Parts: sequence; structure tokens; C-alpha cells
Amino acid sequence: MDENLRLSYLEAMGIQVWIPRTGTEVASGGLQPDSAAAEEPCLQRNLSRGGHSESAPDKMSGPRIRWQVLEQEVSGCTRCELHSTRTQTVFGSGSHSAKWMVIGEAPGASEDAQGKPFVGKAGQVLTEMLRAAGLDRDDVFITNILKCRPPDNRDPRPVEVDACEGFLKQQVEMVRPDIILAVGRIAAQKLLKTETPLGRLRGRVHRYGDIPVVVVYHPAYLLRSPLEKRKAWEDLKLAIETADNGWKQP
Ligand code: URA
Repeated sequence: MDENLRLSYLEAMGIQVWIPRTGTEVASGGLQPDSAAAEEPCLQRNLSRGGHSESAPDKMSGPRIRWQVLEQEVSGCTRCELHSTRTQTVFGSGSHSAKWMVIGEAPGASEDAQGKPFVGKAGQVLTEMLRAAGLDRDDVFITNILKCRPPDNRDPRPVEVDACEGFLKQQVEMVRPDIILAVGRIAAQKLLKTETPLGRLRGRVHRYGDIPVVVVYHPAYLLRSPLEKRKAWEDLKLAIETADNGWKQP
């Protein structure tokens, strides 16, 4: 584990990390312990580079650290073959305390290049869909079933979905959203562990654990079939209703 992260962890748990000063340079060029310093330890502060340098580590909450640990684990993941073809992992983006969680299938070329989910053309449509529901991208947490791009955007293989499942489960557990929006057939089928066609998954409220799931058309499909946008709006209305008023089968 990264040393800074480990220190942040300990500090967030209320454990002060005291380390001896390392020493001072002497004329001979070597490093020797400074006798005063050796007796007087100093508190190691994490004032460094990296994602959380903007705030003091002792203010970091346990959940925030858990996110960082998970993200780091995902970024180094070699659980399936996709690690050898990815540019980088795509962990997810948005609010860690979002009421809405959006789950797509897998990163595409733009996402693989930028390390963020839904940033290509389909992402623009997703942003519009969220706006229609009164949400900004920053209000929701967006991720995918797979955290790595399958070559040539082929469908995820079962072994890849299984390898990634634990990451998604932890993300859902940490966000604890009021609603999950499963975006597209593959995301819906993998999440709900069913082979039921998309047409029969739409229009009903499903569950992932105890969290309601509403299935919507994939924005890439809406780009190809703009006339279906009306149906997509029906799906979104069901999601809004479910998020606001809890789980009710229409
Ligand atoms: N399609 C997806 O399902 N997810 C992305 O992140 C981008 C496109």
C-alpha cells in the first residue's frame, strides 16, 4: 500500500504516526542521526502530491479513504485479461453520496483514453438524459459493470464480469443510492443476472440487493434511434418516481 495512504488511514483512525527524524548531512557526505532530533520524534504529515493534497489527511473520513483504497485496487487490477489491453481503468465519477447511481456496460475508446465513464458521444446523451431528470453529472455516481475497455468494444465476457463484480458491489455498498439506473441491455442483464430481453426489463422496478433498479435504453442506442427518446423519457420518469417515493411496482 502507498505509504501516504497508509499514514492517512492511521491518522483518520485517530492513530498518531510518530517517526524519528531521519538525520542531518555531515561533512563526510554521509547521513548521521541528529542526536537532538533522534530523541524528539516529529509527526509525519501528509502534505504531498496526489488526489487528497487539498485537505489535511487528519480530516479525511474513513469512507473517503475506503474509496481511495478501492480506486487504487481497481487501477492495479489484473484479475482478467482486459488489464493487458486497457490504457487505464475507468473507476467511476461523481458524488460518493449520490441518490442516483448510473451503471453502464464498459468503457469505450474515449473512456479508456480519459479514465472517466461516459465521456464520448453516448456520454453526451447520458448527460442530456440526466439533465432531463433534473440532475447534473456531479449529482450522480456513474460507473460501469467493467472497469476496463474490452478490445474493439466487444461484449463483456462472463469471466470478466465475474472478476469485476466485487468492485461494483463495493461501490454500490459505499454510495447506498436510492436508485440505480441500469443503462442498456448488457448492464441490466449483468446487474440483474438475467437473460431477459431489454424490452421486458424496461418499465418495471427491479432490485439489486435492496436497492431499486430501473432499466433505460443505452444512450448509444438512442443516438442511432432518436425516435426511441420518448420511451427513454418514460423510463426516466419511472426512475424519478422511484427515487423520490421509494419502491412501488407500477
Ligand atoms: N458506454 C458504456 O456503457 N459506458 C461508458 O462508460 C461509455 C459508453
